[in-house]
Amino acid sequence: MHTPIGVFDSGIGGLSVLQALQKELPHEHFVYLADNAHAPYGEKSEAFVSQRTHAAAEYLLARHQIKALVVACNTATAAAIHELRLQHPSLPVVGLEPALKPALALSHTRRIGVIATRGTVSSEKFARLLASVKHEAQFEVQACNGLALAIEQCALPDQAVAAQAQIAQLVQTYTHAMGPFGSAPGEIDTLVLGCTHYVFVEQVLRQLLGPQVQLVSTGEPVARQTHRLLAAAELLNPEMTNEIAQPIRLLTTGDLQGLQAAAQRWLSLPPEVCHAVPASLTLG
Ligand code: DGL
Repeated sequence: MHTPIGVFDSGIGGLSVLQALQKELPHEHFVYLADNAHAPYGEKSEAFVSQRTHAAAEYLLARHQIKALVVACNTATAAAIHELRLQHPSLPVVGLEPALKPALALSHTRRIGVIATRGTVSSEKFARLLASVKHEAQFEVQACNGLALAIEQCALPDQAVAAQAQIAQLVQTYTHAMGPFGSAPGEIDTLVLGCTHYVFVEQVLRQLLGPQVQLVSTGEPVARQTHRLLAAAELLNPEMTNEIAQPIRLLTTGDLQGLQAAAQRWLSLPPEVCHAVPASLTLG
């Protein structure tokens, strides 16, 4: 079935998931929607994030006939995934949540850090997830206000330098607040990146925390889960296809140049694959 898989995020963070999806599903077409006009979501109300997530799903279904949707945003997943599945029962929908369970399998010190947006860490969904694992290790959870925004700004050429300095300062402040990192007893040896934007500051985190700290993100497991769901629903594209490999479209409700710069930088994609769409996402 040659209709695309929809991938959605508040902004450019989900490109880290798109990268993993492309690797896992090389015969699929993708349409990525970045709601840059309303990013970041992390410090907005759950009702607002839920409303935008529903609008994005409707838009991708109506305009691009998507056959599955990956909500490549922890904040939007926490706010809206349950209702989204109820509203679209025949659409395979994959959500993201901070990888607490995979982190348990990796940690030796049994002290695990979690960084995510305020929206994610204050959601009921996250509270349930944490409650299900907290007897197995000590979790240090840190909401990182401002970090996703700084990562968005990093993609804008005129703001990149200031944004990089802001990222360095925020990462330093937030990780310092969580406690000592390292591999000795009592130290945090595993850090969960509970926001898809944070994958793009992995290098900054590594430099600060040292090589012995493991960083855990969700792109690859989510890509495998998407593969399984599509296979079960018999929606995978045939492996032999004469079409151009991986036609891809990136859409933004916000700044087109910002998305183009991010697409070029993170996925080596040319500017022509990026398009602007109305910020309201109305179908009219
Ligand atoms: N990338 C998103 C996430 O995974 C949201 C970041 C934001 O918009 O605040 O949570």
